[in-house]
Amino acid sequence: MDRQTELDLIERCAKLAEDNGREMTREGQSEAARYTDEKLFAKEQSYMRKLPVMAAHSSELPEKGSYIAKDWLEGFPLLLTRDMDGEVHAFANACRHRGSRLEENGSGCKRRLMCPYHAWTYDIAGQLKTLPHKSGFPSLDPSEVKLKELPSAEVGGFIWVQREGEAPLDIESYLAGLLPDFGWLGSEDHVVFAETEKVWDANWKILVEGGIESYHFKIAHRDTIAPLFRDALSVFDEFGPHFRSILAKESVKGAMDVSEDERDIREYANVLYSIFPMNSILVQPDHFALITNTPISAGKTHVRIQTFIPKEAPDTDKLRAHWQANFDFTLATLVEDFELAEQIQKGMETGASDKLFFGKFEDALTRFHEINDKMLAQYTS
Ligand code: FES
Ligand SMILES: [Fe+2]
Repeated sequence: MDRQTELDLIERCAKLAEDNGREMTREGQSEAARYTDEKLFAKEQSYMRKLPVMAAHSSELPEKGSYIAKDWLEGFPLLLTRDMDGEVHAFANACRHRGSRLEENGSGCKRRLMCPYHAWTYDIAGQLKTLPHKSGFPSLDPSEVKLKELPSAEVGGFIWVQREGEAPLDIESYLAGLLPDFGWLGSEDHVVFAETEKVWDANWKILVEGGIESYHFKIAHRDTIAPLFRDALSVFDEFGPHFRSILAKESVKGAMDVSEDERDIREYANVLYSIFPMNSILVQPDHFALITNTPISAGKTHVRIQTFIPKEAPDTDKLRAHWQANFDFTLATLVEDFELAEQIQKGMETGASDKLFFGKFEDALTRFHEINDKMLAQYTS
């Protein structure tokens, strides 16, 4: 965001805090079936295949020859590599001979990828280089055999991959005006400090919803972040299907008393970018977290939480303890959300809960469902 936008957002929240007000728009509601219906989930998956999603951070492929193998959308075996020219590729982690997985899930650095079944060997750019007993495949021209490649792009410090569709991916257009915020955040100049992952028994939408309203902070997070934040004070702006939410802290109330030069939104609020459909960037004062909610089924979501720190930060014990404490605190807070999400999901699946209400200051939730509906109509009709 540019400096004027930052100042405007601070002022917008500070004024609401002064008046003890909220940005009120309209009430909304949703049916529980939207979180439990496997047919609807299948349709959501089919549109997600056609959208670019953040599959990794650039720093996770730090050098030429780096690779990451992992199960991805719908269990798709994904192999990300950085070739010897520094270009990133997203491949199906499946050998072109008879389909064996080329690399075990994990990461590393190598120039050649050798299939563990019959030793067909590819370079890091996906080109078949050698195969034993070539004479048994007289019709095969190895120079024409490449790993199946998915459209990908490296933009804003992240590697974006799309399950279906044509390259090149236009990430700037997809971000609909949010790309400058990645520059503001300096996301390219960060590295992963710590990460954790777990499958939670909750629909992906419940997990997204937990990040885009602050109505629950004082209650659900009474043992963690509640003292830091204003009660139910958040504002959001839309960028295509994405949101930038400002989750105001208590300190925002005095922001207008501070000279303009010294106003830093990261001191007065957490900024949360919800990059539709499954990535959220939570910006904190001196670092940020990336939360990736990969849907598995209507009632299950794989969640990965990564804390990113500035690449140039000094490597001292004191700072490491600081980042670790922040990672632990963020995790404890999110676990509070995820445990509630599992209870909500259980209630919906058993019929204990059948309808949900969204308040006038929870309009981000109503909008989120409208965007989901729009995607369903656009990509699956
Ligand atoms: S399946 Fe990979 S070499 Fe045979
Ligand atoms: Fe929360």
